[in-house]
Amino acid sequence: MTTFGYEQSLGYDRRATRLLTGLYRRIATDIDTRTAHSTTVIDLGTGPGKLLSHLAARRPDLRLHGIDLSPHMIDIARRTLADHAVDLAVADVADLPHPDASIDVAVSSLSMHEWPDLSAAVTELRRVLRPAGIAALYDFRFTRTHEIRRALSTVFGAVETETIRLPWHPVAVITCYRVSA
Ligand SMILES: C[S@@+](CC[C@H](N)C(=O)[O-])C[C@H]1O[C@@H](n2cnc3c(N)ncnc32)[C@H](O)[C@@H]1O
Repeated sequence: MTTFGYEQSLGYDRRATRLLTGLYRRIATDIDTRTAHSTTVIDLGTGPGKLLSHLAARRPDLRLHGIDLSPHMIDIARRTLADHAVDLAVADVADLPHPDASIDVAVSSLSMHEWPDLSAAVTELRRVLRPAGIAALYDFRFTRTHEIRRALSTVFGAVETETIRLPWHPVAVITCYRVSA
């Protein structure tokens, strides 16, 4: 399996800051409005940790976790989040180091299309979510849409979707998939 290398991770970090700040802000607002005090939130495929830094700034009460397959991305995320108490780990979304039923809210941005085994990842997501826990998973509209929806509905049943257009980004149309445990 290929992961983001050192140079690629640094390049992504720079591009994400330039192009995706509005998306992170929007997702952070969405999570903010759906979470109670001290909720446990995980960002799957967190990359350089930008979304977590928006969440940490907005909601210092949240217990934040982030995982990514790339150790280089996690190194950058550790620097991004140096001023916040966020638990970060190198891990595959299909093999999370978290106990069963330990997470209230799972979020992911622009990562799912890279997960090699969507069914295994979604099954793992279901394992770590608490009863009534929720997931809000954001990805490009036209990448593996049917496959993602099928994997989610097989494990969670109902899947709500929302289309988001990023006016500040020249090409991006994003789908948010929402499920609950
Ligand atoms: C395009 S980046 C998005 C990063 C971040 N979520 C963001 O929105 O800026 C995709 C990330 O997903 C991670 N990723 C891909 N497959 C993964 C897997 N199986 N488990 C965990 N992370 C994975 C990659 O290493 C990469 O950091």
